[in-house]
Amino acid sequence: MHIPVLTIDGPSGAGKGTVSRIVAKKLGWNYLDSGSIYRSLAIALLQKDIDLANVKEIVATAQAMDLAFQCDDELIVKLNGVDITAQLGTEATGNVASIVAAIPEVRQVLLQKQKDFKALPGLVADGRDMGTVVFPDADFKVYLTASAAKRAERRYKQLMEKGIDVNIRQITREIEERDCRDKGRLTAPLAQADDALFIDSSALTIEAVIVQVLSLVPQHLAM
Ligand code: DC
Repeated sequence: MHIPVLTIDGPSGAGKGTVSRIVAKKLGWNYLDSGSIYRSLAIALLQKDIDLANVKEIVATAQAMDLAFQCDDELIVKLNGVDITAQLGTEATGNVASIVAAIPEVRQVLLQKQKDFKALPGLVADGRDMGTVVFPDADFKVYLTASAAKRAERRYKQLMEKGIDVNIRQITREIEERDCRDKGRLTAPLAQADDALFIDSSALTIEAVIVQVLSLVPQHLAM
């Protein structure tokens, strides 16, 4: 039985997470937030205070991780039985995730965990290398981006709403550093798949992006 897959790749802050979650819900498909797997590894490493230069320990930690995902309106993630949802979205977690995501052995260990999400009636997979490496045969592919300034502005608003006091210049710098690392790494860099629909969300509402993404998927595949 063919399992349809829709991949949505792009840099952080382009709106991938929100768009993917809503599209998955509208289609009635499963949802993979692959960034949360890298972020969970980052939390495990921070908890154990592991040196980010110690590849052997990092790989061992990735292998030992027991992850459980629950996705209703919000994504809830448990690492070794403990709810880590509150720590997933922090800047520190994202930066460590981006650093360790550049290690080829780490990507290899986490590959199967991501492929396991592919199940009927379909999958929406969000990340950096979903359409290029993890699901190269995906039926529908999107590359969603926005200008660095716009992404920094969105991230700034999000953090301020959560009561976290941040500096917009620092956020912009961190976003640019992360883009550079994610696009520049040798293994599975952030890149647009040749057969992906390119969407620049800088001047678009989330609703307009969702309409474009859903237009790729034939009606009969929606549950
Ligand atoms: O999408 P995100 O911001 O939650 O991802 C956090 C980091 O994880 C990102 O900076 C790079 C890494 N990542 C990756 O390398 N490959 C993916 N498919 C998803 C995330």
